[in-house]
Amino acid sequence: MGIIITNGRIVSSEGILEKDVRIVGEKIVEIGLNISKAGDKIIDAKGSYIMPGAIDVHTHFDADACGIVADSFYTGTKAAISGGTTTIIDFAEQVKGGTLREALNQWNEKTEDNTYTDYGYHMTISDWNKETQKEMEDMVKEGITSFKMFFAYKDLQVGDGAIYEALKKSKELGVLISFHCENGYIIDKLREEAILNGNIEPIFHMETRPPALERESISRLISIGEVVNTPVYIVHLSSKEGYEEIQRAKERGQKVLIETCPQYLLLNKDYYLPRGQDSFEGAKYVMSPPLRDIESNKVLWKGLNLGEIDVVATDHCAFNYKVQKELGIDDFTKIPNGAPGVENRFKLIYTYGVREKKITMEKLVEVLSENPAKIFGLYPKKGVIKEGSHADIVIFNPEYKSIIKAEEQIQNVDYNLYEGFIQYGRFEYIFLRGQIIVEKEKIINSTPTGKYQRRGKPKFHNN
Ligand code: URP
Ligand code: ZN
Ligand code: ZN
Repeated sequence: MGIIITNGRIVSSEGILEKDVRIVGEKIVEIGLNISKAGDKIIDAKGSYIMPGAIDVHTHFDADACGIVADSFYTGTKAAISGGTTTIIDFAEQVKGGTLREALNQWNEKTEDNTYTDYGYHMTISDWNKETQKEMEDMVKEGITSFKMFFAYKDLQVGDGAIYEALKKSKELGVLISFHCENGYIIDKLREEAILNGNIEPIFHMETRPPALERESISRLISIGEVVNTPVYIVHLSSKEGYEEIQRAKERGQKVLIETCPQYLLLNKDYYLPRGQDSFEGAKYVMSPPLRDIESNKVLWKGLNLGEIDVVATDHCAFNYKVQKELGIDDFTKIPNGAPGVENRFKLIYTYGVREKKITMEKLVEVLSENPAKIFGLYPKKGVIKEGSHADIVIFNPEYKSIIKAEEQIQNVDYNLYEGFIQYGRFEYIFLRGQIIVEKEKIINSTPTGKYQRRGKPKFHNN
């Protein structure tokens, strides 16, 4: 006995198909017409799209500030699946002096029986040495086929020599390294100068991280990648300046994969300006890189539409406004960096991308599901509605309208970046490996059933 989803429109990057989908157990077994068998449960998807579950390849659940965690893996993945995301890839973080294995063990403890979505990890490298180099091989055997390194943040950044060696290793292993591109050395100087001059408000977070410093480290990364002759992945691209630098490299024939996030498409630097009584409210938008100008929003939308930007992820990293963001009330450098968004990505990109004709429905599936699955070694198990694939399916009815309100959200955090934004769509059903988790926007399966996904080697476009 299986489940038939009928009367819907199946979306992939290649087009929209009016066919039925049959699920048995955890998988899609057939796509076609008149495929139901006796005893099948029928789900009528009339008026809705049938889409692969979205994949969020950039989350930081269980992020701690002053001993408090806003979104744990439990609440964060519950919010994710409520918002159409059925798989997440979180960053397991090596600490300086620690090993990759220790980070993996720590993340396994956090996630075990504690996630509503399927999940995997990227491994953050912040201490580069011979042991780390050797451990990259061990991580690949564990199904961790992507790593992350930083050009920014005192405690996390490594030097250019380390980046060169790690890229050589990633090339040898056939895996991918993603990079946070902002010049941390100069940013530290700008921050010191700002505080010395009494510039303590949240707006100076943005002022001390100018787009030129994103462009500079993108340019440096691209040059190192060119010398090693291997692709690189840039996380959370925020600026026109950074985008144009990448385009120049691509014109020279270099392989650069790009991720951006809803906040860099939909919000801009005016959010740091004091509003009304509360001059600290900009702290809600303290994330790195910071929000940029409206021109950057436009350039990033255009890049998505042209297929130059590959992925939209969230960089969900939630800290409460009260107590946690308030750590920086007298000094913006003490505001924990990061913002929530895992629950809102799907409908925001649909509402402000597809409905406003900046991208097509096919492109939405490409950047939320298909490309993330391909780039991060989950395809065709995930990211596509196809025979043999996991039945991670979103039945999305585009006609409903609602307003984003923090007080109604599942994310365990006391504000929402998009408070008051109109959004379209309703999740009629969300399946994770054939199991209905969400029905008419409500979680109906209260036990977290997410499983760790061993990922294969990345597949890039044209390879
Ligand atoms: O501000 C941010 N983005 N915090 C999370 C860590 C990172 O840089 O991705
Ligand atoms: Zn980052
Ligand atoms: Zn991040």
